[in-house]
Amino acid sequence: VVRRLTAPDIRARKGGEPIVSLTAYHAHTARLIDPHVDFMLVGDSLGNVMHGLETTIPVTVEMMILQGQAVMRGSRRALVVVDLPFGSYEGSPQQAFATAARVLKETGAGAIKLEGGSRMAETVRFLADRGVPVMGHIGLTPQSINTLGSFRALGRDEASAAIILEDARAISDAGAFAIVIEAVSEPLARQITQEVAAPTIGIGGSSACDGQILVLEDMLGLSDRVPRFVKKFADIGPAIGEAVEAYASEVRARSFPAAEHTYAPKKT
Ligand code: KIV
Ligand code: NA
Repeated sequence: VVRRLTAPDIRARKGGEPIVSLTAYHAHTARLIDPHVDFMLVGDSLGNVMHGLETTIPVTVEMMILQGQAVMRGSRRALVVVDLPFGSYEGSPQQAFATAARVLKETGAGAIKLEGGSRMAETVRFLADRGVPVMGHIGLTPQSINTLGSFRALGRDEASAAIILEDARAISDAGAFAIVIEAVSEPLARQITQEVAAPTIGIGGSSACDGQILVLEDMLGLSDRVPRFVKKFADIGPAIGEAVEAYASEVRARSFPAAEHTYAPKKT
């Protein structure tokens, strides 16, 4: 049997070989990426990517659990981390623990992720002390869109950089096993990576981070609008369009299904 990577395995990679990760929401994509990533994130970006939502605010714990179960079924090697969605953990450490415990019990995933820096440090400590490995997420935190006002890079001036550095220190000291840093300037990402004990996982955080993550559909060319930090490693959107166009024309011409796709009666 293959042993699944654990949160402590990821934690131990600080300063070493870069940590590779992607999002996964489905059994089939989980199966495809499992041999290549160290962890896969069942991100609440599934609200945007799978459900066509404008923000992650409406995403529910039930949505996260269903996709978490699918990703666990499709993978066997990588650590699976599941996002706690907006409204399911910010109220108190107790609320966060109840949600995290439900997610871990119902999916079998090895860790959860939650958004927020200094304000979430007490909660990170509460969970970590009670058997819940926590991945932090600072910088651009999409669940705060209604207070941030827009999705744009942060930490590009000194005052904002100082706050984000403090956020990183607070949740690392509270026991986060890794920290996603999203859409922050390169010098800040570098400084955080040098100063905090937890490995940093960049998304728009520069190559200075201890690892990288992207939304799988974004890097495959399946999303219509993507941020600056996305590189399209493939462009499979047009390939899907072409395949469906070919299928449609063969169905209309009755050239599909052909004989080899058709069942003959049993010979008696
Ligand atoms: O939900 C998500 O996909 C994320 C990653 C982009 C870090 O939180
Ligand atoms: Na997320």
